[in-house]
This record gives sequence, C-alpha cells and structure tokens, in this order.
Amino acid sequence: MTNPAGLYRPVAAGPLILPGNLFLAPVAGYTDRAFRQICAGYGANLGYTELASAEAIVRRPGDLAESKTGRLMRRGAGEGFYAVQLFGADPDVMYRAALKLAPFGPDLVDINCGCPVPKVVKSGAGAALMRDPALLGDIVAAVVRASGEALGGVPVTVKIRSGWDAASLNYRETAAAAVGAGAALVCLHPRTRAQGYGGQSDWSLIADLAGRLPAPVAGSGDLFSAEAAERMLRETGCAAIMFARGALGNPFIFREARSLLLGESCPAPAPAERVNAAFRHLGLLIPDMGEYAACREMRKQFCAYTKGVPGGARLRNALVRAETEEDYRRILAGWLE
Ligand SMILES: Cc1cc2nc3c(=O)[nH]c(=O)nc-3n(C[C@H](O)[C@H](O)[C@H](O)COP(=O)(O)O)c2cc1C
Repeated sequence: MTNPAGLYRPVAAGPLILPGNLFLAPVAGYTDRAFRQICAGYGANLGYTELASAEAIVRRPGDLAESKTGRLMRRGAGEGFYAVQLFGADPDVMYRAALKLAPFGPDLVDINCGCPVPKVVKSGAGAALMRDPALLGDIVAAVVRASGEALGGVPVTVKIRSGWDAASLNYRETAAAAVGAGAALVCLHPRTRAQGYGGQSDWSLIADLAGRLPAPVAGSGDLFSAEAAERMLRETGCAAIMFARGALGNPFIFREARSLLLGESCPAPAPAERVNAAFRHLGLLIPDMGEYAACREMRKQFCAYTKGVPGGARLRNALVRAETEEDYRRILAGWLE
C-alpha cells in the first residue's frame, strides 16, 4: 500500500474516525442494507440509508423496526459504518425521531437538505431547508441533543445542495449554520434544487467550501468512475467522496477507487464476478423481503449489474421478467455460456 498522493485517508466526523474516505451516498430505492453490505465488501468506508421520514418514525406505534420506514434503517450484519438519513422540517419532530433510532445503533445521523422531490419540498423538508439556514441550524441542534441523550453522542451530519436555484447559491451560509449548530461533517452535492440531477455538478463549489469550513466536507456529484473520485479528491481538497449513481450495479467502483488512490492495479470485474455479486445481493435481500418481493426488487439491480455488457439489451429484456431466483440463475447461466 503506497498511497502516493495521500488521497486515500481516514476521515474524522466528530469523535468518529472512519478508516477511509470512499462513501456510498444515500440513493432512495437502492441503498438498502443488502446493497450497503455488498458495497462495504468492496471497500465502501461508510454507507447511507436512503432518506427516512421523521414524521413517519414519530407517528409509528409499536415496533418501529418492523415498519416500512424501520426496514430502511436497519443495519446489515456485514456492513461496517453506516449512517441513517432523516428528512423533516420540524426540529421537535426530528428530535423525537432521532431518539427512536437508538435500537438501530447508527454510527452517525445525517439530515437531508437536498431532496428535490415536490412532496418532500412542499413539507418544508429536503432541499427546502436550503431556503432557511436558521431552521436547518435548529434542526441540527435538536438532533445533536437527541444523539447526546439516546445515541451515545454519534455525530450528526448534513447533506446539502449548492442552493435552491442559480439566483440563491447559499451553500456557504447553510453549511456554516449546520456546523455552528454542531454538524460534524457536511456533504455538498453542488447542483441546485432547480437542477435536480441534470446538468453538471460544479466541483469548484466543493473546493470553495472545503477551503473555508471548519469541518470536513464530503463531495458528491458526477462520480461515475474511480478516476473521477481521484480527480475530485485532488482538485477540491475535500475530505471524502460519495459514489451515488456510479455505484448502482457497480459496487466494484469502491475497489477500483481504493486501488487507484493507493497506486495499485485493479482489473475490471469479469462478467462472472458481476453475476456473483448480483446473486450475493439477492441472497441478502431474500431474508429481508421474501423471495417474491426480493426477486422483483432485484430486477432493476440485475439490469444495473449487467449494464454495458455484451448482449446486454436482450439479457435485460429477460431479467425484467424474472420472478424467482431460479429464473435469474437460468437466464444468467445461458448468458455466461
Ligand atoms: C434515484 C436517486 C435517489 C436519491 N436519493 C437520495 C436520498 O435518499 N438522500 C440524499 O441525500 N440524496 C439522494 N440522492 C442524491 C445522491 O446521493 C447524490 O448526491 C446525487 O445523485 C449526485 O451524485 P451522482 O451525480 O454521482 O449520482 C439520490 C439520487 C438519485 C439519482
């Protein structure tokens, strides 16, 4: 392990020391605990749950872990460090929701300030918090208090965008409000809410924030290869990077990025490795959901794992009809031959 440029390094989020700086971003509909475990196996140093509604957590009577929201927040047996991401707009509700995370034992709690989905934004949560840094500060302070009371003081972090729209780029102010209220790390996805996931993310804003914030900054946006991760770390000086769409069906990107940063060579995954990883993923999902639901859920995942392979279009045509593990085995055995 040579680490020539020192770009692969630990990250301190408050009292938590993460051993490396390659994170799996929250991606709704994808980063369940099965996928987080697969990514951890390939070298992800931290994985985020998809966003979970603080309102739903607080309202839920009985055993939270057995609810739909609770299932999003469970730790996987084989995953390392993991963050539960909450969304909400009311400091008191966020405080009470964070208290209820104790049975899950997250290593950190993240607050979503970037979700552009109208239903979330209309409730004042997600990217709407970019319009009210003072409220975001109150939310962070409330969750920090809950963490101290019920979660052993695990760090609280935020994930923000560059602003609401091009006319209101206020990531500096928003990040400062969050850190002032106790946030231990800020992730910046430098697109505005108005941009959604289109256009290009502006990495110069990550460099700007990393150079001025008295807390580590993680960068997100357009990380579709190991080389892109290396470039973001080198060009922006950010403490960590988060793979999002680039990791879907491609957990190997963590191994590739780590190798690249350490100056080691890393062959691209062979088709058989892709298929094996997809079956391991399915194997982790079945105990969580049952075979029927897991096989349906895995359709998009198998398509992602086989993206870009020869004969992919025909293969995916068959994969989206699979109903059982046996169906997948038959389809993929034929293809591997
Ligand atoms: C389908 C989808 C779901 C996402 N869900 C979340 C989420 O639950 N919480 C969050 O903070 N960001 C979410 N994101 C944003 C990603 O974490 C990431 O910041 C964004 O995709 C930019 O990175 P990329 O261009 O490398 O994909 C989502 C993105 C996509 C495409």
